[in-house]
Amino acid sequence: MVARSRSDIHVPVMVDEIVRLLTTALDGAYLDLTTGLGGHLKALSLVLKPEARLYGFDKDTEALKLARENLRHCAQLKQLINASFADIDGNTSELQDRTFDGILLDLGLSSLQLDDPERGFAFQKEGPLDMRFDQRAEIPTAADLIENLNQEDLVELLRQYGEERQAGRLAAAIVRERQKEVILTTTHLADIVRQVAKPPHQKKSLARVFQALRIAVNGELDQLQQVLPKAVDLLTPGGRLAVISYHSLEDRTVKRFFRREATDCLCPPRLPVCICQHRATIKEVNRHVIVPTEKEIAQNSRARSAKLRIAEKI
Ligand SMILES: C[S@@+](CC[C@H](N)C(=O)[O-])C[C@H]1O[C@@H](n2cnc3c(N)ncnc32)[C@H](O)[C@@H]1O
Repeated sequence: MVARSRSDIHVPVMVDEIVRLLTTALDGAYLDLTTGLGGHLKALSLVLKPEARLYGFDKDTEALKLARENLRHCAQLKQLINASFADIDGNTSELQDRTFDGILLDLGLSSLQLDDPERGFAFQKEGPLDMRFDQRAEIPTAADLIENLNQEDLVELLRQYGEERQAGRLAAAIVRERQKEVILTTTHLADIVRQVAKPPHQKKSLARVFQALRIAVNGELDQLQQVLPKAVDLLTPGGRLAVISYHSLEDRTVKRFFRREATDCLCPPRLPVCICQHRATIKEVNRHVIVPTEKEIAQNSRARSAKLRIAEKI
């Protein structure tokens, strides 16, 4: 058996759809704002002409190191930037291209991050409750949030970011436990959740608690809200923005943004004339969300919750 290299660990989701729907100019400039291990960039490089230009962002230093290795034969790759996509406007002025024919956001985390117990994202494996995408960032880790948030804020976090129905009981159990012992590991937190949430909903509650903490630690929804208008600004007219999301909070944010930006007037219907002066900046390429094929889900279970939306700059 051939050993898998570390850069093969993450299988890019809906890669055929991304290649087909994002590449409007075969010699154009493309920006992957969530490079991960570079799977989507690699697939794009295979169909684009040699004079095309590819750029990537990621918060995660380790992921970019592997992406560099994975993309070493990709002649179109110009630059990989270790920064948050929320800061694209401050980081693109130095690039050879100032506008892009395609921009991709493949949200959430990669298999590299999920599978490494030391990153603290998985409830199945013992590790520190870290969950920062950017391990250089001096921001509170999941363990810090668990230790320092008051019970009300913990309920709010689990409810808002995990859409967890048992948020109240879970927060109370966390607060009771932390009075006895500091909660520092994934397995310690998972045991507390298991005591409150019983099968058949236990696994879902575990996933929702871990998702909620991850979203809070990384400010994921705020950063998504910040990047969407900036990404549209950076598109060439006719260029496309593709967003793959993995839970309803992300997809709702993208859907609302696309609907709003694809609409001319946003005045309430009762007003006889437009006073908002809003003009559509994009049109939606797919009115209905695109989901992976059953074949892809069978081959890659990470794809099962993926939803793809694409918009084109007017
Ligand atoms: C689903 S993975 C991307 C996988 C990639 N498309 C591939 O095929 O290898 C998402 C990546 O986005 C990164 N990420 C999440 N939030 C980010 C942000 N605000 N800025 C930059 N990168 C971010 C994560 O570190 C992770 O590597």
